[in-house]
Amino acid sequence: MSSDQRFFDFLKERIGLDVTSVGPAIIERAVRQRSAASQAQTADEYWHTLQRSSDEQQALIEAVIVPETWFFRYPESFATLAKLASRRLADLNNMRALRILSLPCSTGEEPYSIAMALLDAGLKPHQFKVDGMDVSPLSVDKARRALYGKNSFRGQDITFRDRYFSAENDGYRLSARVLDQVHLQVGNLLDPALLATEPPYDFVFCRNLLIYFDLPTQNQVFEVLKRLTHVDGVLFIGPAEGSLLGRLGMRSIGIAQSFAFSRHSAPEPEPLPAFVPTPLPMPQPVRRIAPVPTQRRPFASVAQASHPLKPNNFEAAALLANVAALANEGKSAEARAACDQYLRHHEPVAQVFYWLGLLSDVAGSVLEAQGFYRKALYLEPQHADALMHLAALLQSQGDTEGARRLQDRAARSERAADSERKR
Ligand SMILES: C[S@@+](CC[C@H](N)C(=O)[O-])C[C@H]1O[C@@H](n2cnc3c(N)ncnc32)[C@H](O)[C@@H]1O
Repeated sequence: MSSDQRFFDFLKERIGLDVTSVGPAIIERAVRQRSAASQAQTADEYWHTLQRSSDEQQALIEAVIVPETWFFRYPESFATLAKLASRRLADLNNMRALRILSLPCSTGEEPYSIAMALLDAGLKPHQFKVDGMDVSPLSVDKARRALYGKNSFRGQDITFRDRYFSAENDGYRLSARVLDQVHLQVGNLLDPALLATEPPYDFVFCRNLLIYFDLPTQNQVFEVLKRLTHVDGVLFIGPAEGSLLGRLGMRSIGIAQSFAFSRHSAPEPEPLPAFVPTPLPMPQPVRRIAPVPTQRRPFASVAQASHPLKPNNFEAAALLANVAALANEGKSAEARAACDQYLRHHEPVAQVFYWLGLLSDVAGSVLEAQGFYRKALYLEPQHADALMHLAALLQSQGDTEGARRLQDRAARSERAADSERKR
């Protein structure tokens, strides 16, 4: 029964899942589980059952999807949304409510985070509405129940839980004022008639789905996302999906860690003075400052290790914060110069090479970006952002295996950091 191409093709056609993105083993296991559950004796028998029963088709889809999500995943993107939303309302003279889409919404953490972020930013309930959509009816049902366990609260700051949830048995129930802002439904991003009668959305979140598609499907879906995003709107994607959008003609709005893209291709984005780069982890680089290398490292010359200046943590941290601020404002050349300055005067740290990677990535210098991400990982093997961005680059170059290894590493590192935080 294993490696039966029919099942791979079925899932590709129905939900866009590219077997190489998750590996055949996951699909084969799902097919084995569903065959056993439907008491099929052979692959052919299960195939016929699958053809005849839409319930079985849905069950196989449920068995392969990855519903992994949590509240305020990539917190900077929600801070960015809140600021952009207030500005957008002003641009619209408050003439209509903002329209926001979360697709895929999985079990609801993303669309509810959007609603909480906007309520926290002072928007009134009538000023916005969030639509959440996912291909999995089980996930959408769970989202509608809005009762969540500890795993949905993984960030460092979970104070929102006190404001918007009440404890219930072993979980937390979301308050009605958030629920009321969100409308949930089942839908498939591959459906040509998807939301065809809906006006475009001011903000679209499509995060951590494109990574499961092959290039032709990504291109097809990208056209749908463009149609769904208002011409003045913003599309938020997952960290591993940025280089794809850049290649497809959208541009980053220049706010680091937000993974937000606009449809405008020119001119250069306006600096966004209101966007103070507070979410950027300025204190972390201080902690991460590498000790003087005991071994000679291949790129030590970049940091002029042969003439080391006395490390000055305060100055180093200020310089890193400056890099972040410049990158946030879309001032790539200045941000790069600040990185160079850092490397001339301080011991190399992963975060600087990560920034250089990101700046090269945004500029379309794929090979250079790869080199910088690898240097970041040499210094800090679990640097989550470097892992995810390098994975995305490898994926876009067809190295699915390499990408998967890095994604697994990033997931392991995220889990380790998470359990560390809970201790
Ligand atoms: C990893 S979750 C992402 C959830 C959320 N956007 C986030 O980033 O936390 C991926 C979701 O994509 C959904 N999905 C897979 N294929 C889909 C499709 N063709 N159309 C809509 N949703 C899909 C799955 O059901 C799953 O819930």
